[in-house]
Amino acid sequence: MMSIFNRVNAALLQRISVSAYSTAVETSSVAKPKTAIIMLNMGGPQTTDQVGDYLHRIMTDRDMIQLPVQSRLGPWIASRRTEEVQKKYNEIGGGSPILKWTNTQGRLLTKALDQMLPESAPHKHYVAFRYVPPFTEDTFQEIERDGVDRAVIFSQYPQYSCATTGSSLNAIADFYKNRQVPPNIKFSMIERWATHPLLARVFAERIQEKLDKFDDRIRDNVLIMFTAHSLPLKAVSRGDTYPHEVAATVAATMAELNVPNPHRLVWQSKVGPLPWLQPYTDDAIKAYAKQGRKHLILVPIAFVNEHIETLHELDIEYCDEVAKEAGITQIERAAAPNDHPTFIAALADVVANHLKSGPAVNKQFLTRCPHCVSPRCESSKEFFRKMCSVPDFNLQNVTTS
Ligand code: FES
Repeated sequence: MMSIFNRVNAALLQRISVSAYSTAVETSSVAKPKTAIIMLNMGGPQTTDQVGDYLHRIMTDRDMIQLPVQSRLGPWIASRRTEEVQKKYNEIGGGSPILKWTNTQGRLLTKALDQMLPESAPHKHYVAFRYVPPFTEDTFQEIERDGVDRAVIFSQYPQYSCATTGSSLNAIADFYKNRQVPPNIKFSMIERWATHPLLARVFAERIQEKLDKFDDRIRDNVLIMFTAHSLPLKAVSRGDTYPHEVAATVAATMAELNVPNPHRLVWQSKVGPLPWLQPYTDDAIKAYAKQGRKHLILVPIAFVNEHIETLHELDIEYCDEVAKEAGITQIERAAAPNDHPTFIAALADVVANHLKSGPAVNKQFLTRCPHCVSPRCESSKEFFRKMCSVPDFNLQNVTTS
């Protein structure tokens, strides 16, 4: 695939950052969009009233989390945790900013695409959340009503996991179980983009902003601690690609950053009693404090915008509480990409490459985890193969002479 990354120059970044932002609102309400960009994410409660339903949906989603007697235990855990989680949302302003950021990113992205690819314009972004409105099924109805020619399903998790992007994609397959896929819309999918050079660059720029806050006598020794949402070890052992994709983003970011600082990848937000991927972020902060490493930067490497895991877990629980108790001298938290011009250029480059010459669906997506036993995954992947008109590449069906 021919990359147009090299053509995303400083002038384009400047145009995107200034003109697209100033006209963001008008571009998303384009009258007759030709190309839909469907931004998938889990979403977060906009108000504390939505917290109970949000937790209920997460705890009953077997793609996201697997519990014994889930239909009873999931709702029970959700209702037990609602008050505590509402309190956390109140502490960050009363709700998640994820919808606000996704809409901002979508408007800037489609504005950039209208400039880069007039042949597929007008582009319109759609938000499809898994656990709060706008729900995936409502968004797909809206796309059908708008009558677009082309629809790109674009995961906002750069690193693929069966628990996150996989769950959102299964929700799309569910929606079309008893409904015909519109034959007049050409569907395709971007399900991972963990090593895109501009994604690495925006993370590097976010880290540099924080490195600059340290005294120059210690700057080169600040430990850069990349942190990502953890995953149950059961999912890792099944063959979920998320851990190595997150590690690939870390490696690309460090190469782009080009500094002598040490770095580590650690994992946050574990839920429940079962073992998850370690080391945990809070434990790592404490352990480094004991080793005498007292200057740290936390870098959320798997979130493209701020939400509860950055604003509460990292900022309040880890930076304000854990680090202080552990005796850390200085800890900074790199901002999520949000509306950084380099990030908007990354989104635009990922989608533009896909629209110009990308495969409708990657073979990486069509291949299941080696130990996947979920009939849901099997049928979902077959659904997307057909939805995106990809021939069956199963080698069992090929005869050799
Ligand atoms: Fe990964 Fe089913 S669990 S494809």
